[in-house]
Amino acid sequence: METRYSATRTLGILTAGGDCPGLNAAIRGVCRAAHDRYNMAIVGIANGYRGLIDESWRILQPADFSGILTRGGTILGASREKPFKNQGKPQNGLDEIGGDKVGAIIENYRKLNLDCLVVLGGNGTNTTGYRLSQEGLNVLGLPKTIDNDIAGTDRTFGFHSALDIGAEAIDRLHSTAQSHNRVMVIELMGHKAGWLALYAGVAGGGDVILIPEIPYDIKAISRHLEARLQSGKTFSIVVVAEGALSAEEAKMEKKERKKYREQSGAPSAAYRVAREIEAETGMETRATVLGYMQRGGIPSASDRVLATSLGTAAADLLARGEYGRMAALIGDGIGSVDLSVPAGKVKTVPADHYMIDTAVSVGTCMGV
Ligand code: F6P
Repeated sequence: METRYSATRTLGILTAGGDCPGLNAAIRGVCRAAHDRYNMAIVGIANGYRGLIDESWRILQPADFSGILTRGGTILGASREKPFKNQGKPQNGLDEIGGDKVGAIIENYRKLNLDCLVVLGGNGTNTTGYRLSQEGLNVLGLPKTIDNDIAGTDRTFGFHSALDIGAEAIDRLHSTAQSHNRVMVIELMGHKAGWLALYAGVAGGGDVILIPEIPYDIKAISRHLEARLQSGKTFSIVVVAEGALSAEEAKMEKKERKKYREQSGAPSAAYRVAREIEAETGMETRATVLGYMQRGGIPSASDRVLATSLGTAAADLLARGEYGRMAALIGDGIGSVDLSVPAGKVKTVPADHYMIDTAVSVGTCMGV
């Protein structure tokens, strides 16, 4: 391959926040194009922003990013280190780092002679990237998360893989729900945004879907489940985002809600909802929490394609010296947005999103 001119000679790359399928595909996309096409040197930073604080990094050679397209997790390791939020505080008890974390990141960026830092992550990671760019570093972001809740991109990589896993889990619950004439409540990830629960719920034919954006009324859910029973359907599937909340809870202050939930004794949303359904309807109800299964394993073909395209697009931005941006899926094409676009935001499901109407049109109750 003919080497092309590049404004960036050395890049640093890290993966931060919760992992997801497609991270390695994105690392490979960035590194292959950066190395093969533009002859850039690449420093792989370990464990997210923490590696830039505790000086944990290595030069990546082509062998490091070969054979990783289909691999789950991240070859670089990840952490939820938030340097601006945790200035002066050790993180997770895993290390004793306190002090000036942001200062350490800036110092090490300079020490490594980086022309740009590429950060693969969710809202927190891209927000930190934006704040570092305001401190004078060159930063590029890539949108990853199973939650699909990053502003500025029409989709994040990781989402489709988790959607496939969620849909398959719902399929499996269907048969056992039918055998036992039960209500099955399944909880999918998504604290603030219900994309995953909504899409997996539609894909799996959920009878009720509860997302954080639409506080639910347990009476409306009960009426729906009872109507199903009366029409001869002896089982039901309820898909719940982990951040789903009742209309009563929505009125509470955060602290009050936390206390209320602790007192309820239910470990999470699925258990809370299952208990409420049983109390309201008397129907035998079970809860399943899919948890980290959703973030593990090989990426779907769709996520591999998206992660690879975003990765190579990031290499092109590096070559052109277009820093302070996040590579993004915009409509059918790959482009980029200013890093200020995702910073400090969560892209929630809008009330008029077509998928809500789709769900309701096929008889799904959205909890109201
Ligand atoms: O990656 C995002 C996410 O999956 C959220 O949906 C979930 O609430 C969170 O990560 C939990 O991850 P962790 O326990 O790793 O902080």
